[in-house]
Amino acid sequence: MKALLCKAYGPLDRLAVEELPPPKPGPRQVRIDVKAAALNFPDALMVQGLYQVKPPLPFTPGFEFSGLVSALGSEVKNFKLGDRVIGFGLGGFAEEAVADAGRVMPLPDGMDFETGAALVLTYCTSLHGLKDCGRLQPGETLLVLGAAGGVGVAAIEIGRALGARVIAAASSADKLALCRRLGAEETINYAAENLRQRVDRLTDGRGVDVVYDPVGGPYTEQALRSLAWRGRLLVIGFAAGEIPKIPLNLALLKERSIVGVYWGDSVKHDPQAHLRNVRQLLEWFAAGRIKPYISERVSLAGAPAAMAKIASRRVLGKLVVLPEA
Ligand SMILES: NC(=O)c1ccc[n+]([C@@H]2O[C@H](COP(=O)([O-])OP(=O)(O)OC[C@H]3O[C@@H](n4cnc5c(N)ncnc54)[C@H](OP(=O)(O)O)[C@@H]3O)[C@@H](O)[C@H]2O)c1
Repeated sequence: MKALLCKAYGPLDRLAVEELPPPKPGPRQVRIDVKAAALNFPDALMVQGLYQVKPPLPFTPGFEFSGLVSALGSEVKNFKLGDRVIGFGLGGFAEEAVADAGRVMPLPDGMDFETGAALVLTYCTSLHGLKDCGRLQPGETLLVLGAAGGVGVAAIEIGRALGARVIAAASSADKLALCRRLGAEETINYAAENLRQRVDRLTDGRGVDVVYDPVGGPYTEQALRSLAWRGRLLVIGFAAGEIPKIPLNLALLKERSIVGVYWGDSVKHDPQAHLRNVRQLLEWFAAGRIKPYISERVSLAGAPAAMAKIASRRVLGKLVVLPEA
């Protein structure tokens, strides 16, 4: 089978597609004939050795994928060959991937492989962040930074589904147009306008209740200063590359909270809450309230260039790898 292989941590152009034997599932694992795998910002970090998790080399990147069950470990009872499934783990950028059975779920009826591959990481992160960590309430105002990116798009749709008024911030007109199409009521081009002043104008000086921040860098402090009394800043990630250092008096003033969000770890600590969130997402999907926005499909050989595009801020929504293309 063909797989994208990372043999040494380093530049993205060192990744190569190679012919490998199909992976063997362990006793509690499932092998999946991959039909689609979604690209995420952490893929680009991981292959460069810049992510918090560093898998032993060589490895195939790709956290989330969907396809057909092609082999079962001896202890797996809840799947059968040919089942349509979504898998989560590592190794998705390949024609075949294995995942722990506990991290495999049926692909719902009516959901295509691309959508299934693109749903888990971004939508679970945003629902966990907004609901479990941010306690976003109906009628509250939510400011989403990096709003046209993977987790940002999910935060817009989920913010709307939770009944919030959503303000989307991003760096270009085409990104903001997408955010409006997906349900943002107001938009801010933070590359051209002062974020804090615009939020002030849009909220009559009150500020927003929750900030969803996957970007970091210079935007975080401006966003924190834009929070209303008892507002919550959700620390999702640092796509801008810089981890901001924040003066803590900004938390004291207005009793603001700075709340870390680490979805992958939360699943280990509270698997039941994760399952409830997945059920909620599937209900919203069935009701037409959420749908991953996929802007481009690439082949396995095209995956390194697609990762470079993500790392250089040039992607709208999600990119998906189709191993058979
Ligand atoms: N905490 C968690 O559990 C969790 C889970 C998943 C992802 N994350 C993190 O969330 C962050 C975003 O992930 P994502 O999948 O949404 O990524 P993405 O699709 O690439 O979106 C990130 C956005 O950040 C903005 N950005 C600003 N400066 C950038 C720069 N120098 N390079 C790249 N992007 C820049 C871009 O929007 P503008 O151009 O509009 O500014 C871009 O759309 C990553 O740091 C990721 O590791 C965290």
